[in-house]
Amino acid sequence: MKTMDTLILDENKQEDILIAAEILCAGGLVAIPTETVYGLAANALNEQAVSNIYKAKGRPSDNPLIVHIADLEQIKPLVNKIDERLYKLAEIFWPGPLTIILEKSELVPDIVSAGLDTVAVRFPSNITAQAVIRAAGVPLAAPSANISGRPSPTEFDYVKRDLFGRVDAIIDGGDCDAGVESTVLSLVGEKARILRPGVVTPEQISKVIGEVEIDNAVTHEIDINQQILSPGMKYKHYSPRANVQIIDASAHEYVDYVNSNPQCMALCFDEDIKKLKVPAVSYGTRYEPEKQAHMLFSALNRLDEMGAERVYARMPSKNGVGLAVYNRLVRAAGFDIINPASHFIIGLTGASGSGKTTAGKLMAEMGCFVINCDEISKSPDVYDEDCVKKLQAYFGQDVAPNGILNRKKLAKRAFSTKEGTENLNRITHPKILVGLKKEIAMAEQSGEKIIVLDAPTLFESGADSYCSRILVITAPEKIRLERIMKRDSISGELAKSRIKAQFGNEFYSSRADFEYEGINESELKNGLINMVSSLRKELEMIT
Ligand code: TXA
Ligand code: MG
Repeated sequence: MKTMDTLILDENKQEDILIAAEILCAGGLVAIPTETVYGLAANALNEQAVSNIYKAKGRPSDNPLIVHIADLEQIKPLVNKIDERLYKLAEIFWPGPLTIILEKSELVPDIVSAGLDTVAVRFPSNITAQAVIRAAGVPLAAPSANISGRPSPTEFDYVKRDLFGRVDAIIDGGDCDAGVESTVLSLVGEKARILRPGVVTPEQISKVIGEVEIDNAVTHEIDINQQILSPGMKYKHYSPRANVQIIDASAHEYVDYVNSNPQCMALCFDEDIKKLKVPAVSYGTRYEPEKQAHMLFSALNRLDEMGAERVYARMPSKNGVGLAVYNRLVRAAGFDIINPASHFIIGLTGASGSGKTTAGKLMAEMGCFVINCDEISKSPDVYDEDCVKKLQAYFGQDVAPNGILNRKKLAKRAFSTKEGTENLNRITHPKILVGLKKEIAMAEQSGEKIIVLDAPTLFESGADSYCSRILVITAPEKIRLERIMKRDSISGELAKSRIKAQFGNEFYSSRADFEYEGINESELKNGLINMVSSLRKELEMIT
């Protein structure tokens, strides 16, 4: 149906903004950049114009649109009553990537809300989007500017590819910041509920308005005939042309699996690229979900351009912004997830004195197979001839008189400076990883399903690359300090300086798939029981 002339407009030219506004006021369609993804805009109060959006996108008519405003006052005529929670949220998150659903007023045409008695409203932060809305003087209904079912466009070229010839104009606004669509939050009903996750996270929202529920459709496939709150979640969304499968595995397991299937392409993390033998596109790094969100749709589009037929995607974390990444990717994959190893390897870590050892002990009691990495690091296998020679070369001959290691002397020299610690790690970590690999292989052979690596230096040693999930135990600094003093019989000052030399709670939290406080043992135990039983359920479902 590509028949129309499509104007390409420049976001930096004031006259182009005015042309866009004129087109919109006359009932036309204009694709505009926003901070999330490009939107395909029409005057939200003009039924005919809105119906043309559905036609241009090939969008099912039961999927409602978001109404975009450029001033908080503009929401008043669109809704029946304003919830006090809206003002609290607007103060923190507007303008920005949060869409809020309220009961709609008569003014909003039914075609915008697809017959629902609610309306979704968003105040974008993108300057061009705001300028167009202001110049048009009306609220703009705008879904993502893709052909329905395809990945949302985060770059101008992808909007052009999907919509040139189908709309009146496209404004070139470069690349979008967030890269995934806004968080959709319903304030209809007593409990606030997230219908679609985005870069505004559930944790951030609940800090402002208290408890928020996450709709089941965010992470689960739903029955197409079911009545659901978020119609958008029922369609097979964000699909590239390729058949995508998510591989739920550690970095090592992922690379091995992909390399054993030379016919495929990979949607991986930066750190995997060098090890892969098939064409690969990265969507960020493992512990930076914001980056993953920014890159995901572009990466899917790129794989299409490369002619990918089968794509194996690395599993993202579902934590924080990761939930939005997972939500989009699992739809692109049509909920096809496999766990080729049929087990989970969990990296258990956290700051010193947070309660890791207790967590490891509890998990062993629950039937998990716990590997103690500290023990491996002390094993004679690590300090072989080659290792001892390297240590002598760096720390002095006398750390191993006659080739026999004097641990105390080594510890004193190595831990007295940051550089010394780093060098000790550089020499010993590769050896420790060899030992670790052996233990993992043994656990695998005996059919263990949940393998735990109790590893204080999980990230520093690179042992996290053997894990498909990260479990972090945290505790307030005061408690950690007391524990370290008691455990190692050292002074408060020394304990403080040790804590200072390590990563803090925030570092660990930002990388966690699961996080529990290690303060009260029975609370910790309850948390871990939930985690283990949900992992066992996942294993039953996935494999
Ligand atoms: O970031 C974004 O939100 C982008 C940019 C362009 O603003 N827009 C966007 O629109 O993603 P769209 O149409 O692709 O997705 C809107 C989502 C759909 O999942 C839809 O079902 C849901 O919001 N939605 C809209 N109105 C709703 C309503 N009244 N009740 C429940 N869900 C609604
Ligand atoms: Mg969309």
